[in-house]
Amino acid sequence: MACESEKWVLMVTAQTPTNIAVIKYWGKRDESLILPINDSISVTLDPEHLCTTTTVAVSPRFDQDRMWLNGREISLSGGRYQRCLREIRSRASDVEDEKKGIKIAKKDWENLHVHIASYNNFPTAAGLASSAAGFACLVFSLAKLMNVKEDQGKLSAVARQGSGSACRSLYGGFVKWIMGKHDDGSDSIAVQLADEKHWDDLVIVIAVVSSRQKETSSTSGMRESVETSMLIKHRAKEVVPKRIVDMEEAIKNRDFPSFAHLACADSNQFHAVCLDTCPPIFYMNDTSHRIIGCVEKWNRSEESPQVAYTFDAGPNAVLIARNRKVAASLLQRLLFHFPPSSDTDLSSYVIGDKSILQDVG
Ligand code: ADP
Ligand code: DP6
Ligand code: CO
Repeated sequence: MACESEKWVLMVTAQTPTNIAVIKYWGKRDESLILPINDSISVTLDPEHLCTTTTVAVSPRFDQDRMWLNGREISLSGGRYQRCLREIRSRASDVEDEKKGIKIAKKDWENLHVHIASYNNFPTAAGLASSAAGFACLVFSLAKLMNVKEDQGKLSAVARQGSGSACRSLYGGFVKWIMGKHDDGSDSIAVQLADEKHWDDLVIVIAVVSSRQKETSSTSGMRESVETSMLIKHRAKEVVPKRIVDMEEAIKNRDFPSFAHLACADSNQFHAVCLDTCPPIFYMNDTSHRIIGCVEKWNRSEESPQVAYTFDAGPNAVLIARNRKVAASLLQRLLFHFPPSSDTDLSSYVIGDKSILQDVG
């Protein structure tokens, strides 16, 4: 390590948006490598509204790897953090910062420690895919710091080992996570189906029903489903493969009726699998069900669907309007049915277009 003093700190900051699946990932065939039982498709959200910002720093003064999440120190001893750190370190290259007079050789990364500070600008562990934005941002910023030269696909396979859904947040627009066939997970990667400019009429509205941390994490929920649900087997083998083909087609052709039909049906089947789990898992609540009721009624009153809904592992609604005009009407309807001072706990609405990974480092 060639540098004038031991006082230097090298830092990188990155920002990564979350993604919401329209064909859901639920269930693993390999718990430690995080290999799924089916393909999934998602849309990456606008980073202005729902994103993670992570700063990673390296200095010879640091004597251990440490991480702070939303201002609180968390333990990095968990296998997922360790695996991401190990995978990125093993791909590190030489780094040189002429201005600061810092030179780090590839082999030095083994002995250097990092400090990580991460902040989510939206509720953590509440079913808005914080693990997706969080691990994608962690892997992306570490890769930048350590001058990793792998392509996005390889990085997605590393992010996948932090949280499955994270592999899809390395791309903007519409993204598919291919489940892969190999036991080592090398072909279980994310690919971009269409970039963020494709189908830019769509507007995503998120109705935050509750920002409380969910009782059952996605990881343990899907493990229990795989162990106890019969429906999940049928879903993974018979239902999802066809839906993936149809969803890709709907996205390619900007076919909103098919897109809405598939997204709503897939969200409902995912929650049916949760109910089919023993003991059953309830991620949605009464307010979520009322939102579904409103959208279904509206869609049926029109010639073709105007809004698609999808709910992740939590009660919060992700509503996809076919265009800006529909989004404005959707907000009006939500405010009418769920006024801010009502007894429902709908707290806020977030509106945004789709968008891309942003590097602010
Ligand atoms: P969510 O629905 O929000 O994705 P999960 O149960 O899947 O909920 O994951 C939540 C977990 O993801 C957190 O407990 C934490 O371990 C991890 N996580 C969330 N945000 C970050 C972040 N910014 N950086 C690293 N890990 C994060
Ligand atoms: C319902 O990616 O959070 O959001 O891989 O165990 O970290 P782990 O789970 P996670 O699961 C996401 C499940 C989902 C659907 C989806 O994002 O596809
Ligand atoms: Co998650």
